[in-house]
Amino acid sequence: LSVDASTLADVAGSLARTVGRVIHSKRAIGVDVAATKSSLSDVVTAADQEAERLLTEGLLRHRPDDAILGEEGASIAGTTGITWVVDPIDGTVNYLYNIPAYAVSVAATVEDGAPGTMSDGRRAIAGAVYLPVTGELFTAWEGGGAFLDGKRLSGPAESELGTTLLATGFGYTVERRTEQVEVLRHVLPRVRDIRRMGSAATDLCMLAAGRVDAYYERGLQPWDYAAATLIAREAGATVRGLGEAAPGEEMLIAGTPAVTAELAAIVAEAYRTLA
Ligand code: IPD
Repeated sequence: LSVDASTLADVAGSLARTVGRVIHSKRAIGVDVAATKSSLSDVVTAADQEAERLLTEGLLRHRPDDAILGEEGASIAGTTGITWVVDPIDGTVNYLYNIPAYAVSVAATVEDGAPGTMSDGRRAIAGAVYLPVTGELFTAWEGGGAFLDGKRLSGPAESELGTTLLATGFGYTVERRTEQVEVLRHVLPRVRDIRRMGSAATDLCMLAAGRVDAYYERGLQPWDYAAATLIAREAGATVRGLGEAAPGEEMLIAGTPAVTAELAAIVAEAYRTLA
Protein backbone atom coordinates (compact mmCIF):
# COMPACT_ATOMS: atom_id res chain seq x y z
CA LEU A 1 0.00 0.00 0.00
CA SER A 2 1.36 3.41 -0.87
CA VAL A 3 -0.61 5.17 1.82
CA ASP A 4 0.36 5.84 5.39
CA ALA A 5 -2.22 4.33 7.78
CA SER A 6 -2.00 7.36 10.08
CA THR A 7 -3.30 9.50 7.20
CA LEU A 8 -6.24 7.11 6.84
CA ALA A 9 -6.90 7.39 10.59
CA ASP A 10 -7.01 11.19 10.20
CA VAL A 11 -9.56 10.87 7.38
CA ALA A 12 -11.63 8.42 9.47
CA GLY A 13 -11.48 10.69 12.53
CA SER A 14 -12.43 13.88 10.78
CA LEU A 15 -15.35 12.27 8.89
CA ALA A 16 -16.65 10.41 11.96
CA ARG A 17 -16.60 13.66 13.94
CA THR A 18 -18.26 15.76 11.21
CA VAL A 19 -21.03 13.23 10.63
CA GLY A 20 -21.42 12.57 14.36
CA ARG A 21 -22.06 16.26 14.97
CA VAL A 22 -24.76 16.23 12.28
CA ILE A 23 -26.63 13.25 13.76
CA HIS A 24 -26.31 14.68 17.26
CA SER A 25 -27.87 17.99 16.27
CA LYS A 26 -30.60 16.19 14.30
CA ARG A 27 -31.45 14.17 17.43
CA ALA A 28 -32.44 17.35 19.22
CA ILE A 29 -35.19 17.86 16.65
CA GLY A 30 -36.52 14.29 16.81
CA VAL A 31 -36.13 10.94 15.16
CA ASP A 32 -37.94 9.11 12.34
CA VAL A 33 -37.90 5.32 12.12
CA ALA A 34 -37.42 4.75 8.40
CA ALA A 35 -37.63 0.92 8.46
CA THR A 36 -37.18 -2.19 10.54
CA LYS A 37 -34.84 -4.97 9.39
CA SER A 38 -34.48 -8.44 10.94
CA SER A 39 -36.97 -7.76 13.78
CA LEU A 40 -38.90 -4.93 15.45
CA SER A 41 -35.76 -4.16 17.52
CA ASP A 42 -33.63 -3.77 14.40
CA VAL A 43 -34.48 -0.22 13.38
CA VAL A 44 -33.12 2.13 10.76
CA THR A 45 -33.72 5.84 11.26
CA ALA A 46 -33.67 8.57 8.65
CA ALA A 47 -30.53 9.80 10.43
CA ASP A 48 -28.76 6.44 9.78
CA GLN A 49 -29.46 6.85 6.08
CA GLU A 50 -28.47 10.52 5.96
CA ALA A 51 -25.27 9.83 7.95
CA GLU A 52 -24.28 6.98 5.64
CA ARG A 53 -24.79 9.26 2.63
CA LEU A 54 -22.59 11.95 4.24
CA LEU A 55 -19.88 9.42 5.11
CA THR A 56 -19.91 8.01 1.59
CA GLU A 57 -19.69 11.47 0.00
CA GLY A 58 -16.87 12.47 2.34
CA LEU A 59 -14.89 9.29 1.65
CA LEU A 60 -15.33 9.69 -2.10
CA ARG A 61 -14.00 13.25 -1.78
CA HIS A 62 -10.91 12.23 0.23
CA ARG A 63 -10.28 8.78 -1.26
CA PRO A 64 -12.09 8.55 -4.61
CA ASP A 65 -10.57 5.18 -5.64
CA ASP A 66 -11.24 3.19 -2.45
CA ALA A 67 -14.17 0.81 -1.98
CA ILE A 68 -16.93 1.51 0.59
CA LEU A 69 -19.20 -0.85 2.50
CA GLY A 70 -21.86 0.53 4.82
CA GLU A 71 -24.39 -0.92 7.26
CA GLU A 72 -27.30 0.75 5.49
CA GLY A 73 -26.40 -0.65 2.09
CA ALA A 74 -23.56 1.49 0.71
CA SER A 75 -21.50 -0.73 -1.58
CA ILE A 76 -19.01 1.00 -3.85
CA ALA A 77 -16.22 -0.81 -5.71
CA GLY A 78 -12.66 0.50 -5.67
CA THR A 79 -9.25 -0.09 -7.21
CA THR A 80 -6.77 0.53 -4.36
CA GLY A 81 -7.33 -2.58 -2.21
CA ILE A 82 -8.69 -0.44 0.63
CA THR A 83 -12.32 -0.92 1.67
CA TRP A 84 -13.88 1.56 4.07
CA VAL A 85 -16.31 -0.19 6.39
CA VAL A 86 -18.70 2.29 8.00
CA ASP A 87 -21.48 2.24 10.56
CA PRO A 88 -23.28 5.59 10.44
CA ILE A 89 -24.96 5.01 13.82
CA ASP A 90 -23.83 2.07 15.93
CA GLY A 91 -26.39 1.93 18.70
CA THR A 92 -29.42 2.95 16.65
CA VAL A 93 -31.87 1.86 19.36
CA ASN A 94 -30.07 4.16 21.83
CA TYR A 95 -30.31 6.95 19.26
CA LEU A 96 -34.04 6.28 18.93
CA TYR A 97 -34.57 6.56 22.70
CA ASN A 98 -32.04 9.37 23.14
CA ILE A 99 -29.77 7.25 25.34
CA PRO A 100 -26.31 8.79 25.00
CA ALA A 101 -24.37 5.65 23.93
CA TYR A 102 -24.29 5.76 20.15
CA ALA A 103 -21.33 6.08 17.83
CA VAL A 104 -20.16 6.73 14.29
CA SER A 105 -17.63 4.12 13.19
CA VAL A 106 -15.29 4.41 10.20
CA ALA A 107 -12.55 1.86 9.36
CA ALA A 108 -10.12 1.40 6.50
CA THR A 109 -9.65 -2.33 5.86
CA VAL A 110 -7.47 -4.41 3.56
CA GLU A 111 -7.50 -8.01 2.41
CA ASP A 112 -3.88 -8.56 1.45
CA GLY A 113 -3.31 -12.21 2.21
CA ALA A 114 -1.87 -11.53 5.68
CA PRO A 115 -3.88 -13.28 8.42
CA GLY A 116 -7.21 -11.48 8.71
CA THR A 117 -8.17 -10.08 12.08
CA MET A 118 -11.86 -10.03 11.14
CA SER A 119 -14.07 -13.03 10.48
CA ASP A 120 -14.62 -11.94 6.85
CA GLY A 121 -10.86 -12.20 6.16
CA ARG A 122 -10.26 -8.46 6.23
CA ARG A 123 -8.00 -6.52 8.55
CA ALA A 124 -8.59 -2.97 9.75
CA ILE A 125 -5.48 -0.82 9.35
CA ALA A 126 -6.93 2.50 10.50
CA GLY A 127 -10.14 3.59 12.12
CA ALA A 128 -12.10 6.01 14.23
CA VAL A 129 -15.12 5.89 16.51
CA TYR A 130 -16.80 9.16 17.48
CA LEU A 131 -19.24 9.39 20.39
CA PRO A 132 -21.36 12.44 19.52
CA VAL A 133 -22.88 12.97 22.97
CA THR A 134 -19.59 13.10 24.89
CA GLY A 135 -17.69 14.49 21.90
CA GLU A 136 -14.99 11.82 22.38
CA LEU A 137 -12.99 10.73 19.34
CA PHE A 138 -11.18 7.38 19.45
CA THR A 139 -8.65 6.70 16.69
CA ALA A 140 -6.04 4.05 15.89
CA TRP A 141 -3.85 2.82 13.10
CA GLU A 142 -2.02 -0.45 12.76
CA GLY A 143 1.23 -0.36 14.73
CA GLY A 144 0.65 3.26 15.75
CA GLY A 145 -1.35 2.93 18.96
CA ALA A 146 -4.86 3.98 19.98
CA PHE A 147 -5.84 7.46 21.07
CA LEU A 148 -8.72 9.24 22.76
CA ASP A 149 -8.74 12.86 21.63
CA GLY A 150 -5.04 12.52 20.86
CA LYS A 151 -4.12 10.96 24.23
CA ARG A 152 -2.65 7.43 24.05
CA LEU A 153 -4.82 4.65 25.50
CA SER A 154 -3.49 1.69 27.44
CA GLY A 155 -6.41 -0.77 27.47
CA PRO A 156 -7.91 -2.83 30.28
CA ALA A 157 -6.11 -3.28 33.61
CA GLU A 158 -5.35 -6.80 34.83
CA SER A 159 -8.36 -8.26 36.61
CA GLU A 160 -9.53 -11.59 37.90
CA LEU A 161 -12.69 -12.90 36.29
CA GLY A 162 -14.54 -12.25 39.56
CA THR A 163 -13.63 -8.55 39.48
CA THR A 164 -14.27 -8.12 35.75
CA LEU A 165 -16.81 -5.54 34.65
CA LEU A 166 -17.95 -7.19 31.46
CA ALA A 167 -19.72 -5.54 28.53
CA THR A 168 -21.83 -7.55 26.14
CA GLY A 169 -24.60 -7.14 23.60
CA PHE A 170 -27.49 -9.07 22.12
CA GLY A 171 -28.61 -9.68 18.57
CA TYR A 172 -32.01 -8.83 17.19
CA THR A 173 -33.55 -12.21 16.40
CA VAL A 174 -35.40 -14.50 18.82
CA GLU A 175 -33.08 -17.43 17.97
CA ARG A 176 -29.92 -15.43 18.66
CA ARG A 177 -31.32 -14.01 21.91
CA THR A 178 -32.46 -17.40 23.18
CA GLU A 179 -28.91 -18.68 22.81
CA GLN A 180 -27.42 -15.50 24.31
CA VAL A 181 -29.57 -15.87 27.42
CA GLU A 182 -28.09 -19.34 27.92
CA VAL A 183 -24.53 -18.02 27.58
CA LEU A 184 -25.31 -15.17 29.98
CA ARG A 185 -26.62 -17.69 32.53
CA HIS A 186 -23.12 -19.19 32.62
CA VAL A 187 -21.22 -15.89 32.57
CA LEU A 188 -23.11 -13.49 34.87
CA PRO A 189 -22.61 -15.38 38.16
CA ARG A 190 -18.84 -15.39 37.61
CA VAL A 191 -18.09 -11.70 36.93
CA ARG A 192 -18.31 -8.44 38.89
CA ASP A 193 -21.21 -7.23 36.76
CA ILE A 194 -22.47 -6.88 33.21
CA ARG A 195 -23.03 -3.76 31.11
CA ARG A 196 -25.20 -3.84 28.00
CA MET A 197 -24.43 -0.45 26.52
CA GLY A 198 -26.23 -0.99 23.22
CA SER A 199 -23.35 -0.13 20.90
CA ALA A 200 -20.59 -2.62 20.17
CA ALA A 201 -18.25 0.13 18.95
CA THR A 202 -18.79 1.99 22.23
CA ASP A 203 -18.21 -1.20 24.28
CA LEU A 204 -14.84 -1.79 22.61
CA CYS A 205 -13.78 1.84 23.00
CA MET A 206 -14.71 1.70 26.70
CA LEU A 207 -12.44 -1.35 26.93
CA ALA A 208 -9.63 0.51 25.13
CA ALA A 209 -9.99 3.29 27.70
CA GLY A 210 -10.08 0.83 30.63
CA ARG A 211 -13.67 1.79 31.56
CA VAL A 212 -14.77 -1.84 31.33
CA ASP A 213 -12.49 -4.83 31.79
CA ALA A 214 -13.73 -7.14 29.04
CA TYR A 215 -16.36 -7.57 26.32
CA TYR A 216 -17.89 -10.42 24.38
CA GLU A 217 -20.64 -10.72 21.81
CA ARG A 218 -21.81 -13.10 19.12
CA GLY A 219 -23.42 -12.08 15.84
CA LEU A 220 -21.65 -8.81 15.07
CA GLN A 221 -21.30 -7.51 11.55
CA PRO A 222 -18.02 -6.03 10.23
CA TRP A 223 -19.24 -2.42 10.47
CA ASP A 224 -20.05 -2.89 14.18
CA TYR A 225 -16.50 -3.88 15.11
CA ALA A 226 -14.01 -3.05 12.32
CA ALA A 227 -12.76 0.27 13.72
CA ALA A 228 -13.29 -0.49 17.41
CA THR A 229 -11.43 -3.82 17.47
CA LEU A 230 -8.40 -2.06 15.98
CA ILE A 231 -8.72 0.63 18.67
CA ALA A 232 -8.96 -2.01 21.42
CA ARG A 233 -6.01 -3.99 20.02
CA GLU A 234 -3.84 -0.96 19.56
CA ALA A 235 -4.63 0.03 23.15
CA GLY A 236 -3.16 -3.34 24.18
CA ALA A 237 -6.28 -5.51 24.55
CA THR A 238 -6.45 -9.07 23.26
CA VAL A 239 -9.26 -9.45 20.72
CA ARG A 240 -10.03 -13.05 19.83
CA GLY A 241 -12.68 -15.46 18.63
CA LEU A 242 -13.52 -18.85 20.06
CA GLY A 243 -10.66 -21.30 19.52
CA GLU A 244 -8.81 -20.67 16.27
CA ALA A 245 -11.59 -18.64 14.66
CA ALA A 246 -11.00 -14.95 13.89
CA PRO A 247 -13.11 -12.62 16.03
CA GLY A 248 -16.39 -11.39 14.60
CA GLU A 249 -19.68 -12.92 13.53
CA GLU A 250 -19.23 -16.18 15.42
CA MET A 251 -17.81 -14.67 18.61
CA LEU A 252 -15.73 -11.71 19.61
CA ILE A 253 -14.05 -11.72 23.01
CA ALA A 254 -11.83 -8.85 24.15
CA GLY A 255 -9.92 -8.04 27.32
CA THR A 256 -6.69 -9.17 28.94
CA PRO A 257 -5.21 -12.48 27.72
CA ALA A 258 -6.15 -14.28 30.96
CA VAL A 259 -9.73 -13.02 31.19
CA THR A 260 -10.45 -13.60 27.47
CA ALA A 261 -9.16 -17.19 27.82
CA GLU A 262 -11.44 -17.81 30.81
CA LEU A 263 -14.41 -16.25 29.03
CA ALA A 264 -13.77 -18.32 25.91
CA ALA A 265 -13.84 -21.49 28.05
CA ILE A 266 -17.11 -20.48 29.75
CA VAL A 267 -18.78 -19.53 26.47
CA ALA A 268 -17.64 -22.80 24.86
CA GLU A 269 -19.07 -24.70 27.83
CA ALA A 270 -22.39 -22.82 27.44
CA TYR A 271 -22.53 -23.77 23.76
CA ARG A 272 -21.92 -27.41 24.63
CA THR A 273 -25.01 -27.37 26.86
CA LEU A 274 -26.99 -25.82 23.99
CA ALA A 275 -25.90 -28.43 21.46
C1 IPD B 1 -25.89 -3.04 17.20
C2 IPD B 1 -25.17 -2.55 18.46
C3 IPD B 1 -25.49 -3.46 19.64
C4 IPD B 1 -25.14 -4.90 19.37
C5 IPD B 1 -25.83 -5.37 18.11
C6 IPD B 1 -25.49 -4.46 16.94
P1 IPD B 1 -26.57 -1.17 15.38
O1 IPD B 1 -25.55 -2.23 16.09
O2 IPD B 1 -23.78 -2.53 18.23
O3 IPD B 1 -24.76 -3.10 20.79
O4 IPD B 1 -25.53 -5.67 20.48
O5 IPD B 1 -25.35 -6.68 17.89
O6 IPD B 1 -26.18 -4.91 15.79
O7 IPD B 1 -27.68 -2.02 14.79
O8 IPD B 1 -27.09 -0.28 16.44
O9 IPD B 1 -25.73 -0.49 14.36
